[in-house]
Amino acid sequence: MLVSARSFAEYRAMFALSDDDLSLRVLDCPGGAASFVALAGARGTDAVAVDSQYGQGRDRLGELVLREIEHKHAELAANASSFVWTWFGDVERYTRLRASAARTFAADLAARPDRYVAGSLPGLPFADRSFDLVLSSHLLFSYGAQLDESFHLAALLDLARVARHQVRLFPVLLHTSDQRYGALDRLREKLAGHGIPTRLQQVDYEFQPGGNETLVLDCGAYRPPPRPDPAARPVAATTDPVRWRHLEGTRPPG
Ligand SMILES: C[S@@+](CC[C@H](N)C(=O)[O-])C[C@H]1O[C@@H](n2cnc3c(N)ncnc32)[C@H](O)[C@@H]1O
Repeated sequence: MLVSARSFAEYRAMFALSDDDLSLRVLDCPGGAASFVALAGARGTDAVAVDSQYGQGRDRLGELVLREIEHKHAELAANASSFVWTWFGDVERYTRLRASAARTFAADLAARPDRYVAGSLPGLPFADRSFDLVLSSHLLFSYGAQLDESFHLAALLDLARVARHQVRLFPVLLHTSDQRYGALDRLREKLAGHGIPTRLQQVDYEFQPGGNETLVLDCGAYRPPPRPDPAARPVAATTDPVRWRHLEGTRPPG
């Protein structure tokens, strides 16, 4: 699967992020080589990224993604009419923004390595309700042809587990066909059955034709079921490399 490098500005647009949203504790899952955590962090947001590629060899990610961006440039130039250019302007600006995001990511990864946590859906290495807001771009639904429906449900419930308020996912289209992910309505019904209402929100960002909606999961009332083995449960203070400021003094005992 491609590791991509969307920019902070793209994240703001894709997820309709307000200044209030950016004052929250935010998780980017999967972070890939996006510059969201770096630039949100620079403006004071308590932001963390998690990705299955942040294990061994992660120091080369920025460089690999830059090479990928070069390939993509030629591909996009040849197929420019298949995309909507309102947001980017043209292929040159697209490539400049993505390359800049990959460089910003690589520099931040080196400077603040604790902000980039290795982990995979479903089964993120965070305690329940560790973040206020969780953002998830271009994995679920996008890779709906490769990742099955049961994976999607388990991953959505895991994202909801670590969110105190909301999860936002973008886009709800397959990346190969520009069609909406086929099981979206069924998954939304299942989430409602778990006490997680959802809604589609239109946003001012569209690159894939028709891809201008973000799925919002309201997690405020969701209480994840206790896990069978409490000893196996990730506990922030011992397993997370990031300091959990907002949980200090607020976590229930046990
Ligand atoms: C297309 S990239 C999107 C990255 C970033 N959100 C962006 O928009 O630039 C997809 C990312 O999903 C990560 N990934 C794939 N499977 C995963 C899983 N099960 N859990 C967490 N990350 C995963 C990949 O390593 C890759 O970085």
